Amino acid sequence: MKRREFLVGSTAAAGALGLGGLSRASGAEELVIQPASFTLRDRPTTGMVSLSPDAPPPVLYGRQGEVMRLPVRNTLGDYTAMHWHGLRIPNGMDGVPYLTQMPIGPDEVFDYEFTPPDAGTYWYHPHCMTMEQMAHGLTGVMVIAEAEDPGFDSEQVVNLRDFRLDDDDQFLPAYTTRGAARAGTFGNVQTANWLEAPTYDHTAGSLVRLRVVNTDTTRIYRLHLEGADARIIAWDGHPVEDVVPMPSATEPLLVGPGQRVDFAIAMPSGEGQTVDLKAKLPGQPHRAMTRLRAAGASVARELRELRPLPQNPLAKPNLTNAELHEFVFGWTPEGGEPVNGFCGTLGYNFWSINRMPWPGDAAPGVGPLAVLKQGKSYVLRLRNESPNLHPIHLHGLAFLPLKSNLRNLPQLMTDTMLLLKDEVVEIALVADNPGDWAFHCHVIEHQKTGLTGFIRVV
Ligand code: C2O
Ligand code: CU
Ligand code: CU
Repeated sequence: MKRREFLVGSTAAAGALGLGGLSRASGAEELVIQPASFTLRDRPTTGMVSLSPDAPPPVLYGRQGEVMRLPVRNTLGDYTAMHWHGLRIPNGMDGVPYLTQMPIGPDEVFDYEFTPPDAGTYWYHPHCMTMEQMAHGLTGVMVIAEAEDPGFDSEQVVNLRDFRLDDDDQFLPAYTTRGAARAGTFGNVQTANWLEAPTYDHTAGSLVRLRVVNTDTTRIYRLHLEGADARIIAWDGHPVEDVVPMPSATEPLLVGPGQRVDFAIAMPSGEGQTVDLKAKLPGQPHRAMTRLRAAGASVARELRELRPLPQNPLAKPNLTNAELHEFVFGWTPEGGEPVNGFCGTLGYNFWSINRMPWPGDAAPGVGPLAVLKQGKSYVLRLRNESPNLHPIHLHGLAFLPLKSNLRNLPQLMTDTMLLLKDEVVEIALVADNPGDWAFHCHVIEHQKTGLTGFIRVV
């Protein structure tokens, strides 16, 4: 597939920055949020939202430790704000309306600029009119390259997400109140990079880095790989050498909305042989979400030629004397009117954190769920009191899952913890990034109906 890909992070334009307000992100191409049309199934689906009129949001490339300038222009009639999921960047660039910036109005531009401290697979999506804009397409992948090349022959980015279409391939309402009060409303067209089961050619016998990102608003994917020697090298951005076992058809990997997994794959040596990324959907046989096809003569490389990815500069929590904070996620005991300024509301509250429905990202006068001191270590106990699964996401900080009442948790740094039914998980973190950090479920219907708060680091 030929897609327009932006190369960002050039430092060449840095000289122009002294001009203050006049120097709007010189040298950086604007990301223009705009209506789009695209054939997801049989006929063009109109009313999509992307960064071009006829293509998915591009992969945004940056490099660890190098500045990225991402001016975002809004040409929609609604408000927006762009969030860079998983990147540990300054709070003012985090893209959460009212919490870190004002929403971006029609015809306005917001100049995002930051230097990613970590390499890995991340993604971007709006955090205002979230349901409307994400469900209609505005979710893209960010690749932050290691400062040093880790030695793959090629890469394949796979952006997994559903769309909810009618028989004419036009959008159905993105959510139902029934879904919002339960597991969420599921799409009926499963795509990878906006295509149904696309095939990508990679050189036979070569080493491919497969970056899989679940950018769906609802679905928890159950994934496994078939047809190649492979291993998991990173989870939610960060390297996890030999920590996560390879999934299988019977024990697939649960990847919740917002989560990412990177595989190192040795392509088969025979031309035309394939590697399938398969998903198990309820009530259906395993299906290939995307397929890699071995092309040309084999270059005969092997996984063991790869060195482990370099670790990201993450602070290790110190558990002695770490203060404990408790969070309970569940249904809300009372309705309550959601308030969300210019950023959209579903009109209900179904969910709560610590038995309080959060009245929308934009509610004035609502305090933080916890106040953490910069530089200190903390343990957060996350309790799921509901029968539904919740991918709980914390902005701006990375955390380490410590233990669960239900399962062994691999030791890996993450920004999104998938809480199972009735699960209690303790996570640890160092509060090393000051600011107000959104803390919410990444099932957008839950996020928008009570399950969003924020944690303050001062
Ligand atoms: Cu992926 Cu609050 O975000
Ligand atoms: Cu985020
Ligand atoms: Cu949830």
